Amino acid sequence: MKKQIMYKKLAKYYDLIYFDKDYKTESKIIKKLIQKYKKSRGKELLDVACGTGHHLEYLKSDFSCIGIDINNEMLNEAKQKVKKVIFKKADMVNFDLHKRFDVIMCLFSSIGYVRTYKYLSKAIQNFSRCLKAGGILLIEPWYNNPAFKPGFPFMSTYSSKNIKIARQSTSKVIGSLSVLRMHYLIAEKDKEVKHYSDEHELGLFDTSKTLKIMEHAGLRSKFFKNGLRTDRGLLIGVKRK
Ligand SMILES: C[S@@+](CC[C@H](N)C(=O)[O-])C[C@H]1O[C@@H](n2cnc3c(N)ncnc32)[C@H](O)[C@@H]1O
Repeated sequence: MKKQIMYKKLAKYYDLIYFDKDYKTESKIIKKLIQKYKKSRGKELLDVACGTGHHLEYLKSDFSCIGIDINNEMLNEAKQKVKKVIFKKADMVNFDLHKRFDVIMCLFSSIGYVRTYKYLSKAIQNFSRCLKAGGILLIEPWYNNPAFKPGFPFMSTYSSKNIKIARQSTSKVIGSLSVLRMHYLIAEKDKEVKHYSDEHELGLFDTSKTLKIMEHAGLRSKFFKNGLRTDRGLLIGVKRK
């Protein structure tokens, strides 16, 4: 089974697949949190694993924004959609943009793709290194081990006149990894229905261990149960001076 094709071959359908995700409201919450917790003075914002750049569309008028992602196909969608933002290809574990930011955010559980604690630590240390003193880190985590309920079938659909998408998945846990097997059926006007299968592996990271890693990386850190979505919470770290 091919891995993460949703972010490669299917990148052009990503915004349709998540048509009901409320990026506008999420971005308003992000702005409020930044206002409340950020202690540095600047407005440099980095969106790590930015995908198609949807949050940046709503944040670019308040911040000077850069988006990075590991997949060119997602970045191409972002570049077409979101103007006046710089997008670059980079891996969250080891990127170096030779500048420091007031805000670094890694949203919609993208952090789970680092898979292991070793790479979680590397990524968080890297985020902290790239923050100014008093700068803020926002990480919207993937589920932790007890919260993730494997085995249940999942389905989402998108329907417009010219395109219909059905996405179904099942999941399992292997050690501290969640493995999601996805299938997509895409029907487009005047084309054959296409079927794609895909696999996503995301680390199930304990919240208290993640907070310790953040503290160790020089961030005063907290977990908020009510984050951007109701089910995942939000980790906030402020870089110590
Ligand atoms: C669920 S999407 C989230 C995209 C976007 N933040 C959003 O809220 O819609 C996960 C993103 O993580 C990216 N990604 C996966 N592993 C990565 C890595 N090691 N470094 C940077 N980006 C990564 C994928 O290409 C994909 O765009």
